[in-house]
Parts: sequence; C-alpha cells; structure tokens
Amino acid sequence: MRQSYTVTVPEEPPAAAPCVRRRGSMSGSVLLSTFVGLLINQAKNLKSSQGLVGLKNLGNTCFMNSILQCLSNTHNLRDYCLHNAHRRDLNNNSRTNTALMEEFAKLMQTLWTSSSSEAVSPYEFKTQIQRYAPRFVGYNQQDAQEFLRFLLDGLHNEVNRVTVRPRAPVEDFDYLPDEEKGRKMWSKYLEREDSKIVDLFVGQLKSSLTCSHCGSCSTVFDPFWDLSLPIAKKGYSEVSLMDCMRLFTKEDVLDGDEKPTCYKCKARRRCTKKFTVQKFPKILVLHLKRFSEARRSSKLSTFVNFPIKDLDLREFASENSINAVYNLYAVSNHSGTTMGGHYTAYCCNPSSGEWFTFNDSRVMPMSSSQVRSSDAYVLFYQLASSS
Ligand SMILES: *[C@@H]1O[C@H](CO)[C@@H](O)[C@H](O)[C@H]1NC(C)=O
Ligand SMILES: *[C@@H]1O[C@H](CO)[C@@H](O)[C@H](O)[C@H]1NC(C)=O
Ligand SMILES: *[C@@H]1O[C@H](CO)[C@@H](O)[C@H](O)[C@H]1NC(C)=O
Repeated sequence: MRQSYTVTVPEEPPAAAPCVRRRGSMSGSVLLSTFVGLLINQAKNLKSSQGLVGLKNLGNTCFMNSILQCLSNTHNLRDYCLHNAHRRDLNNNSRTNTALMEEFAKLMQTLWTSSSSEAVSPYEFKTQIQRYAPRFVGYNQQDAQEFLRFLLDGLHNEVNRVTVRPRAPVEDFDYLPDEEKGRKMWSKYLEREDSKIVDLFVGQLKSSLTCSHCGSCSTVFDPFWDLSLPIAKKGYSEVSLMDCMRLFTKEDVLDGDEKPTCYKCKARRRCTKKFTVQKFPKILVLHLKRFSEARRSSKLSTFVNFPIKDLDLREFASENSINAVYNLYAVSNHSGTTMGGHYTAYCCNPSSGEWFTFNDSRVMPMSSSQVRSSDAYVLFYQLASSS
C-alpha cells in the first residue's frame, strides 16, 4: 500500500552554510508588536522543532538510531525523501523490493513533519532492514558503521538508475594517463551503480603500486563509500584526524606473501603501495577504527582531534584538487566498551545550524564545543563547495 504525503519542506540556509549558532531576534516594546512577536516565535518554535524528534529504542537499537539521526541531518538526503524524489527512482520491476527505501523515506518524513515531539518508533524500518540484511534480525548489539554500509547499499539498490547492468567487457585503460584512466573507471562504475546515494556518498580512491625492482608503477581505481581510518600513534592519548589520514595514505610495503605481480617484470616483486583520493565525495564518512579487528576484543579510546570547520584534505588528492575542504555536520558517538556500549549522535540541524544530541528518544541542544570527545566513532563531513 502506498500512502501519499504532503510535506512542507522547511526553509534552510544554503547547503554549505557552516554550522553557526543563530540568534533569534525578538524585539519591540509595544504591546501589539510583542503579541505579533509571540506568534512569530511560536511559529518559529514549531518550525525549529522539525527534525528534533527522538527514535524509540526497540532493544539494543541505539546503533541504528544513531546512524538514522546522522542521515536525517544529511540535508540532501533528507530533501530527497521530503520531496518524494525517491519515488521517481524506485525500481518498479518485480524483482526489486523497494520497501527499504520507502520505509526510510517515511521515517525521514515523520521526523521532519511530526507536530508532536514524541519519539518515533523505527519498527517498520527495522523490519525492512532485517529483510535486506538478516544479520540485523533480533536485538543484538551491532556496529554502527557496518549498519551504515548495509543501509546505504540497500537504499542504493532500490533507487539505482541502472535497472539492467551492462555486461562488462574487460577493457584495458592502462595505456591512458592516470587522470583519464580514473575518469574512465568512474564512468564504468556509474554504468552499473548510479543513484542519489552514489551522487552523495561515493568517492574514488587511487592506489599506486610501484615495483621496487624495475620502478614501474601501476594504478588501480576503486570506489569508496567511506574511509576507515586507523588511529595513528597507538599509545598516545591524543592524535589529530590529519595524523590518521596520513597513516591511512602512508606508503606501505608489500612483501613476502603479499608480493604483487609486476606487470613489467612479469614476476612477483616487492612493491610499495600508496593511496590518494582521486574523487572526493560530497558527503565524506570517516570511520575511526577504534575496535581491533580480532573479534572486536578491545577499544581504543584515543582522543582524535578533528576540525568542525574547514577540514582541508587537499594534500591527499591524486591531482591538484580545489574541492577538498569539508565541514562536519554529524557524529555517531560510541561510549562504553566492546561488550556493552551505547551509541548517541550529535547533529547540526540543517535548518537552524544548531547542534543537538540524540540519545534514542531524547533530543537535547548542545554546544558545538562538546562535539569532540574520545568517543567520536563515525564522522560525517560535507564538502564545503557542494551547494
Ligand atoms: C515507479 O512508479 C512510480 C509510480 O508508482 C512512478 O512515478 C515512477 O516513475 C516509476 N519509476 C520507474 C523507475 O519506472
Ligand atoms: C559521548 O560519549 C561520551 C562517553 O560516554 C559521553 O560522556 C558523552 O556525553 C557522549 N556525548 C553525547 C553528546 O552524547
Ligand atoms: C542517554 O540516556 C540514558 C537514559 O536513558 C542515560 O542513562 C545516558 O547517560 C544518556 N547518555 C548520554 C551519552 O547522554
């Protein structure tokens, strides 16, 4: 059953407006103007309460609630849902189920149009995400970043503009200059995967392999949906996000069992490998690898210092890039240990530019100075020039 929604999309500052606190302007000493002012303020309150609705915890679902609130404050994605633009893209062929996107959009619409401040239940949405990814069946603790990956992938599949994927002949672009090769690889990707979700979240990484024997270099281009950053300088109590980016992109030696085959030498050689960013996405999701991969047995609580405004990533670009400056707008916070923890979210409201903390059903204003903590786990940045 399809329901139709009429929604009023709140007015908002330009997309790239940095998150600054705004002051309400209430003035006037004359009775009438005070009265009018009151009415205006009431309307403002109603409006400013939009998007500030909590999500009920259905039993260990704080990981889901935290990510949903971060996505709800991703203004391009929110508007896609509020304007029902996703309807045009829904794959209606009978082989694709579209209920995940529909439930997600419904939830976004409820969060942004609800006139009551009562927490909303994400039950219907949860039913759909667990149909898509059965690992989310039940009420176990889950990892917020893994959940985000599954969710974006699921949404993408239901609104992919490509309905019939072309058979991919193996094409060799190795003769092309790197930049050209990167562009070709990106358009090949779009021939198969092309959606609003891709428009927003997907970037392209370049890895360059250099043979230590003959010195020749080969390149590989891969799309990425987020970057998982190792925590630099283990043992230190504080590092910077740039340290983590530098560690992620640091030249790595592939030797021993990992030796790749050099295309010139036609033999397995010791090589160096280095990542650069070929294409920066509009929304950059940075995941701080706080949990050890070995069964998530320990958690690093290093304080990672990250900028809220003007995260400049130009030094990591493959070529000179002017568009690599980002502003933070949401954080998924994990407190506690690997065994038992709790997720919350802090988000900058795209309409008011103010920060709020979302703790399941509770929503509270917060100061942007509290956003940095040693529990920040997944960071959502928006490209400054993406408006
Ligand atoms: C899917 O159906 C809706 C109406 O139910 C329509 O508006 C939309 O254009 C269709 N989408 C595609 C991709 O055919
Ligand atoms: C983030 O987690 C830390 C550690 O538990 C907690 O002290 C802090 O209040 C949390 N921040 C928010 C805004 O929820
Ligand atoms: C979240 O709310 C719970 C109460 O439901 C409270 O115990 C907890 O301290 C809150 N956590 C944060 C980080 O604000």
